[in-house]
Amino acid sequence: METTSLQRGQWGSRIGFILAAAGSAIGLGNIWRFPYLAGEGGGGAFVLIYLVCVVAIGMPYLFAELSLGRKSQRNPVGAIMAITGPKSMWIAVGAFCVLAGFIILSYYSVIAGWAVGYAVKDVIAPTMGFEEFAASPGIVIGLLAVFLLLTLVVVVGGIEQGIERWSKILLPILFVLMVLVIVRSVTLEGAAEGIAFFLIPDFSQVSLDLIIVALGQAFFTLSLGMGAMITYGSYLSKREDIAISGGYVVIFNTAIAFMAGFMIFPAIFAMGVDPATGPALVFVILPEVFAQMPLGGLVSFTFFVLLSIAALTSSISLLEVVVSYFVDETSWSRKKSVLIIGGLTFLMAIPSALSQGAVDIFSDMSFLFGEGGILGQNDFLSILDYLVGSAGLAIGAFFLSVFIAWIWGASEAAEELKQGSTILTRGMITTWVFMMKWIIPLVVAVIVIGNVLGVDV
Ligand code: PFF
Repeated sequence: METTSLQRGQWGSRIGFILAAAGSAIGLGNIWRFPYLAGEGGGGAFVLIYLVCVVAIGMPYLFAELSLGRKSQRNPVGAIMAITGPKSMWIAVGAFCVLAGFIILSYYSVIAGWAVGYAVKDVIAPTMGFEEFAASPGIVIGLLAVFLLLTLVVVVGGIEQGIERWSKILLPILFVLMVLVIVRSVTLEGAAEGIAFFLIPDFSQVSLDLIIVALGQAFFTLSLGMGAMITYGSYLSKREDIAISGGYVVIFNTAIAFMAGFMIFPAIFAMGVDPATGPALVFVILPEVFAQMPLGGLVSFTFFVLLSIAALTSSISLLEVVVSYFVDETSWSRKKSVLIIGGLTFLMAIPSALSQGAVDIFSDMSFLFGEGGILGQNDFLSILDYLVGSAGLAIGAFFLSVFIAWIWGASEAAEELKQGSTILTRGMITTWVFMMKWIIPLVVAVIVIGNVLGVDV
């Protein structure tokens, strides 16, 4: 039986959609990945390039994913099928989206589990350093289960009563907690240096590699390249203004990334720590920084709670991509889909959870990838993050942008984008069509090549 849009669910309000989509965008990418990339990429210069990438490339492409979703009212597979019919090769791109959602959710939940654990670390493992913590199988798998369960509970509630309702509750809490940590951080002695590092560009740091990494981050942070925004767009009403709502999503997401910078860099500089420490920044360096500062215990708790919240509003969108596929395309109910996919995700996540020292074959996969691994990383989690979270998203974005611009047709897509919109002028539409046909596929192809060649900052 055809599922009608009523059975599929719809966002209850504009602000509900904006907060849900902003919740998907705002996540570990803003608070964990963006600061360490900025720290490695010389601060302000990276921040500026990232900003340009988000606004000039990420935002127009975001509009395209939302338009495809709303047009078809379907999950990524169904959306492509609605345009091409059931026999096209392009459906493989939709299938890739669903698979990517599943895989990213698996390792994302492991990292999110660490965040949950660090919030209560003083209680569960007060004396452990990060290495020992991440290598303790009982702890990491337990935390993974807790986090994944929270994700399932939200998604089983559906669009309006689950995802929208929880996004409306969680995002304001996230914002307030971030303000609290920022106030503590910027009032530390020596904080100004950190703010200067974050905001004042040093252009001697700029390289093609840095630009490619910033572009990749723009896609990751806006949840693009794997159909999350197709899926969220599929619950939008035709009366909704995609450009305005999407614009707000970009603004909120960018604001939170900046706020993350204001939480982290003043504290790091005030305590005299090197900002260029890579992925360890949040889990290794920050706890040390918090430990040295007045009110540190409270700040640490607040920080890791807010990090867990940010991760949760993203993980629900990853799960929703997969769930929407099964709800739309099979006879499974939402509840059944959530339970089965949740269980499978848990199994898929176990090797990632055990890859940080708990189990040797997952921690060092040089038997598969050689001594050098991929970009020097040889553990299961980092390899998945590279293959799917970085290269995969870029490849997904490439095929989706070509599909939307050339198979569906940029002008057709523009018709959908215009529907319900009050702010788009004819000039803006013409520019968007041109960007979609030429600039975005080209730029995304450069990110793909950069990823394959292994750019690193
Ligand atoms: N945008 C999320 C973040 O910045 O953490 C990550 C993400 C979520 C990527 C959902 C892709 C996605 F579909």
